Amino acid sequence: MLIVGRHHIYCANVIEQGGFKLSNTAYVYKVCVVGDQAVGKTSTIIRWIQGYFRDDYISTMGVQHYSTSMKIDEDTKLKIIVWDLAGQDTFKQLRGTFYGGAAGVLVMFDVTKRETFKSIPGWVQEATKHIGRRVPFIIVGNKSDLVTENSDYFGVEEYAESMNAPFLITSAKTGDNITNLFHLIGEIVHKKAMESRSDRHKVL
Ligand code: GTP
Repeated sequence: MLIVGRHHIYCANVIEQGGFKLSNTAYVYKVCVVGDQAVGKTSTIIRWIQGYFRDDYISTMGVQHYSTSMKIDEDTKLKIIVWDLAGQDTFKQLRGTFYGGAAGVLVMFDVTKRETFKSIPGWVQEATKHIGRRVPFIIVGNKSDLVTENSDYFGVEEYAESMNAPFLITSAKTGDNITNLFHLIGEIVHKKAMESRSDRHKVL
């Protein structure tokens, strides 16, 4: 398969939908970031990739793409193409076309707004429907810097356990847990891809 990027042309082997092997030590995966409008999706990605907090709110129109690389161990390098999907309802129909080939999903809510937490099942359902199979996802409660008292974040721990998904509480403003978040999704999608690859090669 030929992947034409802005600066590179790769000859790569498809290892499963949403993942490509660039060499014996480098892989590329697509990860979608979803959640209600203004929960901090773009801010979280910008904090990780560009290293600063964007204070203003410019609502995403449709979709934006970002690219990031990381090493998950001495020998394994990942390139993650992050798709930042608009949270506004007006983009619901259009959003469906952006999920294809994703290897993982970050489902975000705002820890100060219960209604954004209640929307999570809807986001999981939308992503699963359009990706066409269940892919790994992480539940992300963002804006932890705005919570001053002890909080159970609307019971996210129980919900995540019931969905067999990890969760993280983050702040794009302070940077809390942002590195952990992107490393975790990288490790999870790579592990899943390697498992499904070795399953396919099992002799029955
Ligand atoms: P849509 O593109 O409309 O789907 O929104 P979004 O989820 O991408 O939200 P965005 O990143 O644009 O952030 C919305 C607002 O929340 C902005 O004013 C951000 O500065 C603010 N914000 C994002 N993350 C944090 C955070 O961790 N803490 C605080 N205090 N504010 C945040």
